[in-house]
Amino acid sequence: GDGPVILGIESTCDETAAAVVRGKQLLSNVVASSMDEHARYGGVIPEIASRAHAESFVPVVSKALADANMDISDVDAIAVSAGPGLAGCLAVGVSGAKSLAWSAGKPIYGINHVIGHVGVTQLQFGDLPEDTLALIVSGGHTSLLRVRNIATDVQVVGSTLDDAAGECFDKVARLLGFPYPGGPYIDRHGQQGDPTALKVPMGLTQGRAGAEHPYDFSFSGVKTAVARWVEARRAQGLDVPVDDVCASLAHSVATVLSRKAIDACKRFDSHTLIVGGGFSANSQLREALAQAGRTAGIDVRIPRIALCTDNGAMVAMLGSNLMQAGVAPSALDFPIDSAMP
Ligand code: KG4
Ligand code: ZN
Repeated sequence: GDGPVILGIESTCDETAAAVVRGKQLLSNVVASSMDEHARYGGVIPEIASRAHAESFVPVVSKALADANMDISDVDAIAVSAGPGLAGCLAVGVSGAKSLAWSAGKPIYGINHVIGHVGVTQLQFGDLPEDTLALIVSGGHTSLLRVRNIATDVQVVGSTLDDAAGECFDKVARLLGFPYPGGPYIDRHGQQGDPTALKVPMGLTQGRAGAEHPYDFSFSGVKTAVARWVEARRAQGLDVPVDDVCASLAHSVATVLSRKAIDACKRFDSHTLIVGGGFSANSQLREALAQAGRTAGIDVRIPRIALCTDNGAMVAMLGSNLMQAGVAPSALDFPIDSAMP
């Protein structure tokens, strides 16, 4: 396709990733993860992740260029995630990207990682319709966004008041004895269980909270309710029906996410819902969204898993959008922002 050639670099959490896009064509996509090193700690250890980025940066970027049959001189611009994410991790990727831009004399864009999750869907589904809603869900974020123009006009419609959906799954998984990250185990076991076995609250949907936070999420109460139920069973010496626990948790989380996302589409008159982030691999969520989308006549766009999890293509694609919209590149001293809104 036509359009600028962009090298995208990602280092917000445990993935060191780089990709090259030309227009809306993905030319290469390389990901190195340090997750194996974090698994035994039950969570991502920032210091370990930062060291892994420092080791992987040059090999990953070199491979992304080589896989695209390119040299840095063939690139029109570099894009890098400037936030949100772990500060030490961002510092490695942003410093590396700035050094490359400086030495090669290329413009650089410091981009918002969460908006990158929205932009990447263009590689699979083509252009974003003018008024789009996006649900971005992972271990770190749960956001509902209104995207009128991906380069210039993205508003937060709702977000989680406490835990992210993936984080909630990972915490319950730990309680059930699954390895980290436990989200995929909850998914698999939940497929065989009874989703009505436990009464799990539907966070922020009822009463005053529902009215005050129509598009916000809260998963900490959901996690606590499941944990209490499991602990009570254990205290009584009863065994825990793991499949039913997983099914009930997954049902609550998937229902609330899909209901609020579809309600927001109706409220803001959007006929397209973009879905992204590692949690969009969840089968209960995919099913709930597909069904709700069909009923409401909304086109639900969930990309293939490799584009849902953190990657360089999402960064490159958003950089391409910014460049093509005529947005000025970042100055070489732009800051990282671990809490970027
Ligand atoms: O986007 P991601 O790879 O990393 C960030 O958190 O940014 O998302 C990982 C999260 C973890 O919490 C993981 O447990 C969850 O997504 N996850 C899932 C599934 N696959 C990954 N949660 C539920 N069901 C899945 N199939
Ligand atoms: Zn992410």
